[in-house]
Amino acid sequence: MKKILFVCLGNICRSPSAEAVMNYLIEENDLTEIIECDSAGTYGYHAGEMADRRMQKHAIKRGYDLTSISRAVIESDFDDFDYIVAMDNSNYSNLIAMAQNNIEENKIFKMTDFCQNMNVDEVPDPYYGGEQGFENVLDILEDATQGFLNKIIKDMN
Ligand code: 4NP
Repeated sequence: MKKILFVCLGNICRSPSAEAVMNYLIEENDLTEIIECDSAGTYGYHAGEMADRRMQKHAIKRGYDLTSISRAVIESDFDDFDYIVAMDNSNYSNLIAMAQNNIEENKIFKMTDFCQNMNVDEVPDPYYGGEQGFENVLDILEDATQGFLNKIIKDMN
């Protein structure tokens, strides 16, 4: 079993969406017995909450049901997960700062590094913006999750 943790700031917009888009791909490829996803935030302020309603609304239009409940990243996540995937540069640096050693640090990736079509450096925070920000998050995630799945499959072989 390979375990993936997607990480953003609040764990109510980007990382719950990454989790749902990735789960959709995993099911489509019959890999549910092999790959498992979760998500968390570097900031625990929204812990216990469902995903942001605006994010849910945009996601469901593309067939993604956001079911995760927000939680903060914890120390044991670096043991429990094989891949820890940050949505933006700030999440990435925060995760690097939390890692205790090289083994933990080597588990940390940035989502946009797996994009195959879009040329972007981050999944931008949509929280304070308009509708287009949420669509943009989903566009980037749909591209990146496909590339990420290819990498995981390659790593397993
Ligand atoms: P997320 O979006 O990191 O994609 O879940 C945000 C959610 C909440 C806040 C910022 C970003 N906030 O400032 O509360």
